[in-house]
Amino acid sequence: MSRNADDLAALIRGRAGDAPVALGLILGSGLGHLSRAIDGVAIPYADLPGFPHAGVSGHTPELVVGDLEGTRVAVFGGRAHYYESGRPDAMRLPLEVLKALGAERLIATNAAGSLTRDIPPGGLMLLNDHINFSGTNPLIGEPSDARFVPLTEAHDSGMREGLKAAAEAEGIPLPEGVYAWFSGPTFETPAEIRAIRILGADAVGMSTVPEVILARFLGMRVAAISTITNMGAGMAAEEISHAQTKAMAPLGAAKLETILRRYLRNTA
Ligand code: HPA
Repeated sequence: MSRNADDLAALIRGRAGDAPVALGLILGSGLGHLSRAIDGVAIPYADLPGFPHAGVSGHTPELVVGDLEGTRVAVFGGRAHYYESGRPDAMRLPLEVLKALGAERLIATNAAGSLTRDIPPGGLMLLNDHINFSGTNPLIGEPSDARFVPLTEAHDSGMREGLKAAAEAEGIPLPEGVYAWFSGPTFETPAEIRAIRILGADAVGMSTVPEVILARFLGMRVAAISTITNMGAGMAAEEISHAQTKAMAPLGAAKLETILRRYLRNTA
């Protein structure tokens, strides 16, 4: 853990209080409004030296630390993507800070394209595994042997069970599937979508996998949920765009909030 992460955790505790954080939450494109549900303190990333600028529209670059359904959470209103800087480890410092604040669990959310008609736009998908199709890895350059992280259980089965039980109790479908990480920032070609479908992916997106890897490296348990904003390129007549992502994400966001609240109540 870097010195900087401990210093930033101390700064955050100074503003938000000393109680340890139990769970971190990363909000994807168009899901930022969830942080307003937290009874807590918002700290702009600009006040946290070394935090990414998270400059993608549809993200709110602030960290909110506080209470959600009886659990102390730290909510990242936006993330840094690999395609913004070319650095796959752009989220390393924020996740080190999360760990330093005490978090043992991380839930990452994202907006994604669906590769299966069974999971249409407006729905959610719980990641049960992922395919790193980007050719890079956030632990490249990490010198310690800790870099050889096993990813067999990257998506924690206990957390997945808890999230599925919460979804079921709320009557919200939460199918599981495999998420493929493409670097972005372009959307995929139809040929890439056909290829990754054959390789076993159910959804595609430009984020989350680096954070899952980093969180496992740091010893946190992780689960991730996609809000499906569109069908993959070539699978529907409609043109894919970031505007569409931002317009469609709130449909899934309401369901996501309901599931998360129930999950936190059940595990508090
Ligand atoms: N591809 C990649 N990222 C995405 C998509 C997509 O179709 N939809 C939302 N984010």
